[in-house]
Amino acid sequence: MGFGWKPPGTLQGRLVVKASRKSGRVFTPALIAGSALGVVWVGIAGFAIAEPRGGGSLPVPTTLNDYFMPGSQPGDVIVSFQSSSTCMGCHSDFSPDSEPWLWAGSMMAQAARDPIYHAALAIANQDASFSGDMCIRCHAPMGWLDGHSTPTDGSALVGKDLEGVACHMCHRMVDPFDPDGVAPPEDAMVLAMTADLPVNPHSGQYVVDYDDRRRGPFETPSASHAWIQSPFHQSSSMCATCHDVSNPVYERQPDGSYALGALDAQAADHDKYEQFPVERTYSEWLMSEFALGPIDMGGRFGGDNPLVSSCQDCHMPDINGPGCFFTDDRPDMPQHLFNGGNTWVLQAVRNLNPDMETFLSEDIVNDSISRAVGLLQNASDLDVSIDGTDLVVRITNQTGHKLPTGYPEGRRMWINTRFYDSGDTLIAERGAYNDITAELTTADTKVYEAKLGIGADVSAATGEPVGESFHFVLNNEWLKDNRIPPRGFTNAGFDLVQAAPVAATYADGQYWDDTSYAIPAGTTRAEVSVWYQTASKEYIEFLRDENTTDTTGQTAYDQWELLGKSPPVEMDFMSIGIPCNGADLAEPFGSLDFSDVAAFLVGFATMDPASDLAPPFGSFDFSDVVTFLGLFGGGCP
Ligand code: HEC
Ligand code: HEC
Ligand code: HEC
Ligand code: HEC
Ligand code: HEC
Repeated sequence: MGFGWKPPGTLQGRLVVKASRKSGRVFTPALIAGSALGVVWVGIAGFAIAEPRGGGSLPVPTTLNDYFMPGSQPGDVIVSFQSSSTCMGCHSDFSPDSEPWLWAGSMMAQAARDPIYHAALAIANQDASFSGDMCIRCHAPMGWLDGHSTPTDGSALVGKDLEGVACHMCHRMVDPFDPDGVAPPEDAMVLAMTADLPVNPHSGQYVVDYDDRRRGPFETPSASHAWIQSPFHQSSSMCATCHDVSNPVYERQPDGSYALGALDAQAADHDKYEQFPVERTYSEWLMSEFALGPIDMGGRFGGDNPLVSSCQDCHMPDINGPGCFFTDDRPDMPQHLFNGGNTWVLQAVRNLNPDMETFLSEDIVNDSISRAVGLLQNASDLDVSIDGTDLVVRITNQTGHKLPTGYPEGRRMWINTRFYDSGDTLIAERGAYNDITAELTTADTKVYEAKLGIGADVSAATGEPVGESFHFVLNNEWLKDNRIPPRGFTNAGFDLVQAAPVAATYADGQYWDDTSYAIPAGTTRAEVSVWYQTASKEYIEFLRDENTTDTTGQTAYDQWELLGKSPPVEMDFMSIGIPCNGADLAEPFGSLDFSDVAAFLVGFATMDPASDLAPPFGSFDFSDVVTFLGLFGGGCP
């Protein structure tokens, strides 16, 4: 375990900033006026003033310069990348549990083929010219480094480029920071050859070895190729390279809002915390207790070691096994599982591409999806209790980041509560989901999600309406983020990394959330379940309806429909008996006494639904009185 990057404000953070400024070209935030937008953007030291003229239009005229970011650049690689198929001969087909080839069933292996990604990429290019360049950087990194990212619709990506985040990509990555001074000496040489070094890890600002020297966690003298032991590969900061995503065209303003920076120029500041945050999975982890050291999680995330700290500990749990067919077992062989919240897109990838290219098979897809479901079921704990006339549902986050984390568009988690009467008839439901239409009733329950949107300035410049939106590259505001923080949460810490709750509050240290439901009278039992959905209907419809460029939105929609509309996964379930059938109306709770009689009578007189104890519901009649007296006489509970 280990973590390299420290947030701004710490000594290390400042040292990293200095080091990178020293090394590279200097950005000159100057006066840049005039653009096809009909808008004058004046960017001086991070201030942007917009003067909208007219309605505005799309795409925003950004250029490749706007998406320039430090790190290795296209054309820098000297010895070419190899297809993962060349690793197959030695790193696959010997142990279904430990072989690195498990990678093939991960979403990262399919990141460049993912049809949801393609649909979103088309809209990104529609919204802001050349913005697809930044998407390709992470979703097809070898292709990006080989200069195949223009045109930015990805049409120049071929062959191994489509292997997404592939073996050779990860295993040639170099630590650009090395705060602990543990990097191998070869890394320093690579950094010296890199013109611009990142300020902190994010947005695909990787540095790779320009030669083919494969880095990994171990000393592997038996390896049949050049290898270098690299502590970076066991640190979360390696994953941070792509699992903190910022939009570099928006600059953070002194008031905490984000405004479009100068056009046709790289960001005034490459520090991620000065740019618009899209995903903050790594930073959420960095501010959690997991970043401070191992926590015993009782083995809930698999592997042989119950102590977990880093991303790898949960997403690549160690088991006993070999790394190559002719080498000995290692007790700490990391499994290349990389499952997350995606429970159906892998199948869509297989439907749309030949197995020969994807390395997928029916078994690989089924195994990976069932692992993702298992991970989601282990992500949280559910407790249900009764507090007077309320049912209290507590969800505890057991992950190393927010629950849910990551891709904010479409991912969501919600509570479904069902109330049953003594005849086991469903009398009320909150958070109902319709499997046929994929519609979720959101008004009467809690949905955990992040919602991003378009601010007034961007609206004026683009003509898109202010407020909630799925436009990845246009969004410059966070409207909602009530996702449950991880262990060790502090408001100050999360604020520092642009991951504070929005339109929700969590106290310092709180890594659970409570939701109360009024128990309808007549309830004898309640069932509570927590659901996770990879893609909401609203998002998939957006991808289809907003696309004016190509068929990728329709393709994504068709797969979604074919595969059950992103079937929700039940993460937790609990059934609980309700004493006194909901007739325990007043304190002291726990038994029926004269205070309840008084409350019942007042409720009956004022037609309070709480006194409507028996069918026919919706009217107040003697059946309610008889039911109440029966419960009272029956010595409840
Ligand atoms: C001819 C066989 C062979 C091929 C082909 C091969 N490897 Fe290896 N590789 C090995 C062996 C053997 C080891 C040592 C394994 C051990 O000791 O556990 C190894 C070790 C590694 C390590 C671990 C290094 C460390 O320090 O921990 C990495 C990473 C690696 N290989 C990546 C790759 C990649 C990426 C490819 C394809 C581009 C590949 N290998 C192709 C045989 C091979
Ligand atoms: C997303 C990045 C990523 C990708 C893609 C990836 N690996 Fe790894 N790999 C890692 C990390 C990180 C570790 C070390 C994890 C740890 O020790 O906790 C590792 C460990 C290894 C090891 C060391 C185990 C040993 O026996 O020495 C080998 C070999 C290896 N990977 C080969 C591969 C091959 C082959 C592929 C493609 C099939 C691949 N990796 C794809 C990140 C990746
Ligand atoms: C070069 C960029 C890159 C690096 C480095 C990287 N990732 Fe990823 N990762 C991605 C991309 C892109 C996706 C999304 C793939 C998709 O869904 O299309 C992804 C997806 C994932 C997912 C699955 C998400 C889901 O929706 O199910 C997990 C888990 C994950 N990565 C873990 C890791 C870990 C752990 C590391 C570090 C060892 C790591 N990644 C390093 C780019 C990267
Ligand atoms: C304590 C275990 C644990 C640690 C540590 C951890 N994760 Fe996760 N991760 C999970 C679980 C469980 C899920 C599934 C629930 C969810 O989506 O939040 C998950 C989900 C994800 C997803 C999928 C999100 C999506 O939208 O599909 C990504 C990506 C991811 N983790 C990356 C990371 C990275 C990067 C790190 C390190 C910075 C990390 N995780 C650390 C347990 C962990
Ligand atoms: C810094 C790396 C990075 C960049 C840049 C990036 N992505 Fe991703 N993308 C990821 C990761 C990591 C995930 C999955 C992780 C998660 O859910 O937490 C992901 C997931 C997605 C998904 C969800 C896929 C699914 O199957 O549900 C879509 C869609 C997507 N990205 C589209 C885009 C588009 C469009 C762009 C460019 C505007 C883009 N990404 C830029 C890293 C990146």
